[in-house]
Amino acid sequence: MLPALLACVLLFTGCENRDPEKTETVRVGVAIYQQNDTFISNVVQEMERLAREKEGESLLKINLSIADGQSNQTLQMEQVDRFLDWGCDVLCVNMVDRTAAAVIVDKAEEAGVPVIFFNRQPVEEDLQRWEKAYYVGPRGEQSGIFQGQIVWEQWQEDRERVDRNGDGVLQYVMLEGEPSHQDALLRTEYSIKTLTNAGVLVEKLASDTANWNRGQAAAKMSQWHQEFGSQIEAVFANNDDMALGAIDVLLEAGVAPEEMPVIVGVDATAPALEAMAAGTLSGTVQNAKEMPQVLMDLALSLYAGEDPAQAADLTAEHYVWLPYREVNRENFRSFQEE
Ligand code: BGC
Ligand code: CA
Repeated sequence: MLPALLACVLLFTGCENRDPEKTETVRVGVAIYQQNDTFISNVVQEMERLAREKEGESLLKINLSIADGQSNQTLQMEQVDRFLDWGCDVLCVNMVDRTAAAVIVDKAEEAGVPVIFFNRQPVEEDLQRWEKAYYVGPRGEQSGIFQGQIVWEQWQEDRERVDRNGDGVLQYVMLEGEPSHQDALLRTEYSIKTLTNAGVLVEKLASDTANWNRGQAAAKMSQWHQEFGSQIEAVFANNDDMALGAIDVLLEAGVAPEEMPVIVGVDATAPALEAMAAGTLSGTVQNAKEMPQVLMDLALSLYAGEDPAQAADLTAEHYVWLPYREVNRENFRSFQEE
């Protein structure tokens, strides 16, 4: 069995084993937008590990139940209903459609079950419908700024290699995440803004959504590679999976790592860090590494009826903002060791 698949099987059976010595059971319902998402499945696996760790050091039994929304908001609504019927103590929700949060907040309030949204940010008014609705995630624009900085540094240090046609303008393509995702919009905007604010002239050759997906990104990149070839001087990808999809195409076409355009992603996944070591990926941005820990801490504190401000750094009563970190050619090895 593939390791990823095995991990998922373990993940979904993890809550079955009962321990008679445990005195209290906490039920946490975790609804995710799509299980086949690299970043989200990493977050959930880490939550599962932290739950087992916490159980090991307390009398608490943590029943973490994961529901895969399969990118279908109607399905996810049913899953939330089921969690509430099951009597869950806390809900963690990674919305399929982040504009649909109001309904979930109202359902949670009616049942008196605190709800923590993560990664897919609801609009502010929806969060403000109830005091026990929270959002945990990073500020999307910061990741775009880091991407811009990484490219700017290489533009400064290695101009001859980056500006292949020597026209003083950076010709780029943009691989975007899902169209309405805050991170896709903000990364697309701020990566470029950071360069233009620094005085770099840019020219967009092409941009399109590849829905965070490696295969879809490869399909786009393959078209662009045929159309523009070595005119492409930079590839901005809203996440690492899409950056890796672009790299797949260039490797397949026989482009050597040192001949590749500057390519940047976001997430700092293990395969992305390997690509940095191989010299194909130019940089990435670590995405809210603390998210699983903060979700668990907040969920357990809400379960215990404690003041959530003691468990997490709350801003404006509803938000826990987490950091992004720039991962560049100088520091990537320290991220590999984490
Ligand atoms: C991550 C993507 C992921 C998406 C899911 C983003 O923050 O960078 O890799 O697909 O969240 O919502
Ligand atoms: Ca150029």
